[in-house]
Amino acid sequence: MKTFAIVNRKGGVGKTTTAVNLAYVLATGCRLRVLLVDADGQANATQILLPPGEYAGLGALLRGYACCWDELVIPTDVDGLHVLPAAEDLGALDLEAAGGDRSRCYRAVRDMREALEEDGAYDVMVIDCPPNLSAACVAAILASDSVIIPVLSDACSATGVGDLVEQIASLRSLHPALRVAGVLVNQWHRSPVVEVSVAYLREEGMVPVYDTVIRRTDKVPESSWARMAVQQWSPFCSAARDYRAWVAELAAKEGIKYGQA
Ligand SMILES: Nc1ncnc2c1ncn2[C@@H]1O[C@H](COP(=O)(O)OP(=O)(O)O)[C@@H](O)[C@H]1O
Ligand SMILES: [Mg+2]
Repeated sequence: MKTFAIVNRKGGVGKTTTAVNLAYVLATGCRLRVLLVDADGQANATQILLPPGEYAGLGALLRGYACCWDELVIPTDVDGLHVLPAAEDLGALDLEAAGGDRSRCYRAVRDMREALEEDGAYDVMVIDCPPNLSAACVAAILASDSVIIPVLSDACSATGVGDLVEQIASLRSLHPALRVAGVLVNQWHRSPVVEVSVAYLREEGMVPVYDTVIRRTDKVPESSWARMAVQQWSPFCSAARDYRAWVAELAAKEGIKYGQA
């Protein structure tokens, strides 16, 4: 099973949009069995992919109330795409999980990953992370082999990537195989500052930057309002096409067969 955590400590950079589009395109375009784990208490990915409702999700797993992944996972309308939802209760976890309990959280998600692999349940797991390095976020990263970092194409985001990569590298003491798969530039548009920032990211060379960038379009916030993936809301808008191109690039780099209907 391939495992990707979508990480950035900044909010509003496109983590959820990227996680949802990656999961959606892998399920529909590649006919893979995909589990999207929502590790953000704001539950945006859950709201996009599942009908409104109360779900016992990742919080139950992290607190040790659920013993098996199949108690928590919910199928979506999209063939092959399942969601392990989040709810607000994730927010309180850091207060509860002081000290030693953090390691219980970390173990819970790793144990789930091992169970998913033993059961051969999914081809890919994608985790949408919160905008901080909370216990849930670190647990998500430690249960993934690869981290994808979406960034906005401005100067602050470009220069902040170095710190984030160092923090992720420091988790290698707990998970030696952890790697940053790449940085994905989101909300790209033609402007001098965007071009300078993207050039800085590419030249600095600390981590690979995907060739494909995701263009800025109002179709994405519209789809967020409609609680739909942009692939469904407006499949031919620039960002929907860019996400498909990016998943093809990622699939080639990660050895995933793309477009196998
Ligand atoms: N390519 C894009 N073009 C325009 N708006 C975007 C794009 N990607 C994301 N957005 C918008 O930016 C906001 C933050 O995106 P989101 O994926 O929720 O970020 P995060 O999960 O990092 O907080 C949302 O309103 C979303 O609709
Ligand atoms: Mg989000």
